[in-house]
Amino acid sequence: MTALKLFASLLVGLCAYYFYSQETFSEEMVRGKRVLVTGSSTGIGEQMAYEFARMGAHVMVTARTEKRLQEVVQKCLDLGASSAWYVVADMSNLTSAQQVVEETKTVLGGLDLLVLNHVKVYTGLHPFQGDMESVISTMTVNFFSYVQLTVSALSALNESRGSIIVISSMSGRIPSPFSVVYSSTKFALEGFYSGLRTEMYLQKIDLPITVAVLGYIDTDAALRALGGKIAIKASPKEDCAREIVKGGVLRQREVFYPYWVTKPVLLLRDWMPEVLEHMMDISYKVENTL
Ligand SMILES: NC(=O)c1ccc[n+]([C@@H]2O[C@H](COP(=O)([O-])OP(=O)(O)OC[C@H]3O[C@@H](n4cnc5c(N)ncnc54)[C@H](OP(=O)(O)O)[C@@H]3O)[C@@H](O)[C@H]2O)c1
Ligand SMILES: *[C@@H]1O[C@H](CO)[C@@H](O)[C@H](O)[C@H]1NC(C)=O
Ligand SMILES: *[C@@H]1O[C@H](CO)[C@@H](O)[C@H](O)[C@H]1NC(C)=O
Repeated sequence: MTALKLFASLLVGLCAYYFYSQETFSEEMVRGKRVLVTGSSTGIGEQMAYEFARMGAHVMVTARTEKRLQEVVQKCLDLGASSAWYVVADMSNLTSAQQVVEETKTVLGGLDLLVLNHVKVYTGLHPFQGDMESVISTMTVNFFSYVQLTVSALSALNESRGSIIVISSMSGRIPSPFSVVYSSTKFALEGFYSGLRTEMYLQKIDLPITVAVLGYIDTDAALRALGGKIAIKASPKEDCAREIVKGGVLRQREVFYPYWVTKPVLLLRDWMPEVLEHMMDISYKVENTL
């Protein structure tokens, strides 16, 4: 009987928590905020920039392709951004990463939200063949530059009581065949940022970190790399961007998108790893990855 009561109150608590966290989001929370989104010339990063713009943020976008960045800035302004800027940078150069933050602080007069999203161009699914140069360069773009950007932005974020959003992947939670290097960089991010979050908490420093765990999203880059190679339907990047922005602004620890695909799989990972492996066997068309 007590167990039942406990369960019932737990359920009520969960529902209350769910509705509470659903209702507190308002676009006003974003207006006037100074946001840096990396890897925002295409894909999910571009969509997140638009989402912030729509709600009246000051938006700084960055990537390597200047022409695309100019177009994104223009669209941000059309959508209602308080201001929109770009800085061209290659994240394989950590000095450039540092300069992106400096430029952002100068132009926006500070920083409220650091959104880490860029990745080295996906190469598709291939067995690992021991290319060390690729391991090092992928780690630099996908992980070291994230840490550099964070280090450079820390004092500005502390000053503004700002927060960080980190874009991870199911590949950062579940070992991923045929993309083990990419997967390793996401595991590294998960380790670093989850650890950092707890470190901040234990030191009573208010620096919320939201890790977004994404499934398969319909960006051009992902479709190009994975199309025909996995039997999973891609989810819309616009909706994905909206959910990440919302979770980040609400300072949630994690965002899972699409929720009902990612979350059950993660439970299986811990409870029934054999079942998960069998599911992978079904969803990967191995003959197409060689
Ligand atoms: N799409 C999916 O299915 C999926 C699934 C799970 C997780 N994610 C994550 O979501 C995030 C966005 O992915 P996406 O699908 O939107 O990818 P995307 O369209 O390829 O976007 C990647 C962005 O990073 C930039 N970039 C690439 N190399 C760079 C470099 N060396 N220096 C600076 N910028 C660089 C690209 O612009 P330039 O080429 O102009 O530099 C682009 O703006 C990534 O963190 C990815 O891991 C995606
Ligand atoms: C990295 O960027 C800095 C500053 O933008 C530049 O001076 C340096 O030459 C770059 N390094 C490489 C290896 O391209
Ligand atoms: C953060 O800001 C507080 C005051 O707002 C200051 O006391 C503290 O030293 C700062 N910490 C860092 C790491 O900058």
